[in-house]
Amino acid sequence: MSELNKIALKILSNGKGILAADESNGTMTKRLDKVNIKSSPENRLLFRETLFASNSMKDCIGGVILFDETINQTSNYGKTIPAMISETGAVPGIKVDTGAKDLANSLDEKITEGLDGLRERLKKYYELGARFTKWRGVYSIGEKYPSELAINSNAHALARYSALVQESGMVPIVEPEVLMDGEHSAEECLIKTSEVIKKCFEELIIHKIDLTGVILKPNMILAGTKSKNKIHNEEVASKTLECLKKSVPNEVPGIAFLSGGQSEVEATENLNIINRNNDTNFIMTYSYGRALQQSALKFWSKDIKDIKGTQNIFNHRAKMNTLAAQGKWSNELENK
Ligand code: 13P
Repeated sequence: MSELNKIALKILSNGKGILAADESNGTMTKRLDKVNIKSSPENRLLFRETLFASNSMKDCIGGVILFDETINQTSNYGKTIPAMISETGAVPGIKVDTGAKDLANSLDEKITEGLDGLRERLKKYYELGARFTKWRGVYSIGEKYPSELAINSNAHALARYSALVQESGMVPIVEPEVLMDGEHSAEECLIKTSEVIKKCFEELIIHKIDLTGVILKPNMILAGTKSKNKIHNEEVASKTLECLKKSVPNEVPGIAFLSGGQSEVEATENLNIINRNNDTNFIMTYSYGRALQQSALKFWSKDIKDIKGTQNIFNHRAKMNTLAAQGKWSNELENK
């Protein structure tokens, strides 16, 4: 077993999942504005360290994705943030892309940047304690989209990123996110997502990536948010499994879904059905941002000193998702 494979399995095994707390300062400011909290480095730290000090970290969270600001912060508990996370048994990770920019010659689409100077940044993050990383490519579905140009260029960037990350001794999370926005059907989402993921792995193989040391972070297969033809959870699960079976090579140890704008319970329920029907060798778990933090953030914003109350809410979500990652979640447990 390679070292990278061991790290990937440590993050994903036994129903554990990933807490995606890597919102950029811009995104975090939008989230905090919504609940009337000032977006200062101190407040961003306060909310995040409240989650990292929760009981569920030990049993449910296998990895935490951080943003550059957070990995460099020292918590109010006196430890650096990566040390605080490692002590719970979870693996600290870091978002290393520098964001999605307009793609030249297809300006309605995006290309993710951040390759320049990446080798040096990775060295610094490794020294700070990170053992895995994230890079997100983003694609929209439209009449002409995602274009071949967007699919190929993002796959190429994800492969170059993955090669540098593995060279530096860390596990790359490869995140090609096909967005939910739009009127498209679930069938279109299935076709486009399959095409996007297949191209990513083609490029990863060209770049000689050790696929046993990669985590795929895809979207689930859903109808667009403005589609009139929503599909049932059972169909979300069957289409998602169909997509992954035909586009992900067998060597990949695990798949950790993004929540992408689904409600908290929807994201949990869909993951649960996927796992009940999982007839693959892939571990299927969660790498949720909003679907793990939304209720906790709302509660915290009412009284930022109520650490216990905030942690209770986060613990419940983490526990429900860890049950779902084993196909053991139910509505009764959700509402208990
Ligand atoms: P969501 O679960 O909120 O989609 O966030 C996951 C993530 O890391 C997006 O890049």
